[in-house]
Amino acid sequence: MSQALANVNGEIQPLEDVRISVLDRGFLFGDAVYEVIRVYGGKPFLIDEHLRRLSQSMESIRLEGADMRDIIARINGTINAGEFQEAIVYIQITRGSAPRKHAFPENYQPFQLIWVQPFQDAYADARQNGASVVTTPDIRWHRCDIKSTNLLGNVLGAQVAAEAGCMEAIFYREDGTLTEGSHTNLFGVRDGAIVTAPRSNAILPGITRELISRLAEQAAIPMIEDYLRRDELSTLSELFVSGTTSEVMPVVRIDDQTIGDGKPGPVTRRLQEAYAKAVQEFL
Ligand code: PDD
Repeated sequence: MSQALANVNGEIQPLEDVRISVLDRGFLFGDAVYEVIRVYGGKPFLIDEHLRRLSQSMESIRLEGADMRDIIARINGTINAGEFQEAIVYIQITRGSAPRKHAFPENYQPFQLIWVQPFQDAYADARQNGASVVTTPDIRWHRCDIKSTNLLGNVLGAQVAAEAGCMEAIFYREDGTLTEGSHTNLFGVRDGAIVTAPRSNAILPGITRELISRLAEQAAIPMIEDYLRRDELSTLSELFVSGTTSEVMPVVRIDDQTIGDGKPGPVTRRLQEAYAKAVQEFL
């Protein structure tokens, strides 16, 4: 298995050797956006979709000067250099380093970091048997649609889950609606239809969420965009979360409630099979 390999502004080096300036705005302000891409069999899955979202994130924070063609070439070059097969690509673009001042520096050079690391699947068992999750207040900002590295709300949520021995924390707002997980999108199944939060500034438009919507359509499973509610969880027959590393992850317990019969349900299973088939076709 290869060691993690980085690409810093076009230059390949071992990840552990990468050094950044303490004045980097990503470090000081979280003035940065990122992506995580899954590599299956040496090929980055859904790379166009991920880079489109990266472009949108950059546009949303008015971060300029990074060329998507360079980024694609660097991703592929780094995967090939390390001969990675099952891996994760992490990309982070920051507004570079400059004397510390909140407003944008005048002539900045974005800092463009990519790294590839072997994929270690922490979720294999939960994907098979179902995960437990906890709910926690959504204390994040009003632009959760931007994939920014300002992840403190997500970090604190994920820690609540970790301390409860759970796979994920699901955020709820003051009105009782559920938005998403700390690093996943959330789906319920009610009366045979999949229900998931609409695209808005309250959630990240997940690439896996988008894929699930296409797979559901192909399988003729209805999908409704509506917020799930914390006080209506007992009306759901199934619950699952999705993400680049989680894929389609059945949830069988949320706080003190068991979902369905406590085992992954048929709709979730069908989507897991469809996801696996999509990966096979991609390969
Ligand atoms: N997380 N919602 C949030 C808040 C996320 O951070 C993520 C992804 C998702 C799922 O998006 P996608 O299907 O595009 O991975 C939803 C990544 C994997 C991470 O931060 O590690």
